[in-house]
Amino acid sequence: MEQIDFVKSVKDEIKDKNLKYVILTFGCQLNENDSEKISGMVEEMGYTKTETFEKADLVIFNTCCVRENAEERLFGKLGEIKKMKEERNTIIAIGGCMMQEQSMLDKIKKSYRYVDIVFGTHTIQTLPEDLYKVIVKNEKVKEVWDIDGEIIEGLPIKRNDKYRASVTIMYGCNKFCSYCIVPYVRGRERSRNPEDILNEIRELAKEGYKEITLLGQNVNSYAKDHFKYCKPEVKSEIDTFAKLLRAVCSIEGIEKVKFMSPHPRDFTDDVIEAIRDCPKVSRMIHMPLQSGNSKVLKEMNRGYTKEQFLELAEKMKSGIPNLHLSTDIIVGFPGETEEEFEDTLDVVRKVEFEQIFMFIYSMREGTRAAAREDQVSEEIKHQRFDRLKELYDGQVEKQNESYIGTIQDILIEGSSKNDETKYTGRTDSNKVVVFEPNGKEKIGDITKVKITENHKWFLSGEII
Ligand code: 5AD
Ligand code: SF4
Repeated sequence: MEQIDFVKSVKDEIKDKNLKYVILTFGCQLNENDSEKISGMVEEMGYTKTETFEKADLVIFNTCCVRENAEERLFGKLGEIKKMKEERNTIIAIGGCMMQEQSMLDKIKKSYRYVDIVFGTHTIQTLPEDLYKVIVKNEKVKEVWDIDGEIIEGLPIKRNDKYRASVTIMYGCNKFCSYCIVPYVRGRERSRNPEDILNEIRELAKEGYKEITLLGQNVNSYAKDHFKYCKPEVKSEIDTFAKLLRAVCSIEGIEKVKFMSPHPRDFTDDVIEAIRDCPKVSRMIHMPLQSGNSKVLKEMNRGYTKEQFLELAEKMKSGIPNLHLSTDIIVGFPGETEEEFEDTLDVVRKVEFEQIFMFIYSMREGTRAAAREDQVSEEIKHQRFDRLKELYDGQVEKQNESYIGTIQDILIEGSSKNDETKYTGRTDSNKVVVFEPNGKEKIGDITKVKITENHKWFLSGEII
């Protein structure tokens, strides 16, 4: 039987029952995008979405294992819904990165026997078959494939947003940063056929989507695998990330293009030139620093030094007018000394990132950094986190002030949560802006807003 046959069988089996599903997504935008595909499949089978666990007949967890806290949240939630399962026989499915880790898989099998379905990152497309086995055959499904998945095209998708869409351009990661578990759970880098990507975006443009985010663990490694995971074989002139970016920007109807995340090591001149030449590409670029110290960077296996990162940031800022940078930083990597941490603060002072995602180093079993004996104490890790945050908060305050009086193009996303009479949207650099409607512009339009006030967590302004 093909997956589509399983979809039909489940649909027949549950019809007229008005069954509901809830999906809880942990982790990054790639997981969010996978969840949209999972939602697409279960809705095709006849389930409708609910946000309330108590009303759900099917609960799906799409897990993350990049840091420890996601695990705690998952196990907490699983404990909570055990009773629900006993009362109304809710089907529980767990998928995503954590299920690619043998120790987690064993834990679920042993201590959470009431879970019905376990699936990994490589097999979301077999969910219809898994559900069929549970619903029709009354079996449990707990096999996770330990291989690099094929690239599956054409899955149905239920998107969370009407104007902004994410499109995964490649799966997996080959970088093996010494702290990171992603290469072990997401497998090798596998680039999608550029024609499939462009067709998907053309369809999105037709449906009215304005903003596209190209997703991948390392987007600027795109096509470096020579499309060897694509079937049939791919022959295309679009054989670099820079060329893909240009091609996406040429699609009519798409007004803004973002990407997440590039790796500083592969941020080549052709990518900088493509951004400079294409005004549709967001001027907010995410460039993960991780540490500002060359020795730590070497131990992290990042492939650049402090100086090289600073040079790259400078080259990007001078090559692309109005550029803003955001970044990821890990504090408390094993062996990190006070002086080495100071180097991170130094880079933050120099580059003045618009946004910093800060992480406390978290030991991931199976990675090289986790095996080190010189782990930094929890106390010092937290202290360093607080110091970095304090520096960054001061910088944000200064940056916000510099927006006052400027005119920003804002995609109107909807009504403000705190004041329904007002609209909300974001600047290109991701700052939230709240403003009064003018009776003409509507949700989904891009409008010019003059920034008038800084409220610390957001800016306010008026349509001009
Ligand atoms: N501990 C803390 N942060 C981590 N990240 C990845 N692995 C770890 C870890 N073991 C962070 C990195 C990465 C972001 C997605 O998560 O900063 O860029
Ligand atoms: Fe992890 Fe490094 Fe790959 Fe990013 S580049 S997913 S941090 S191994």
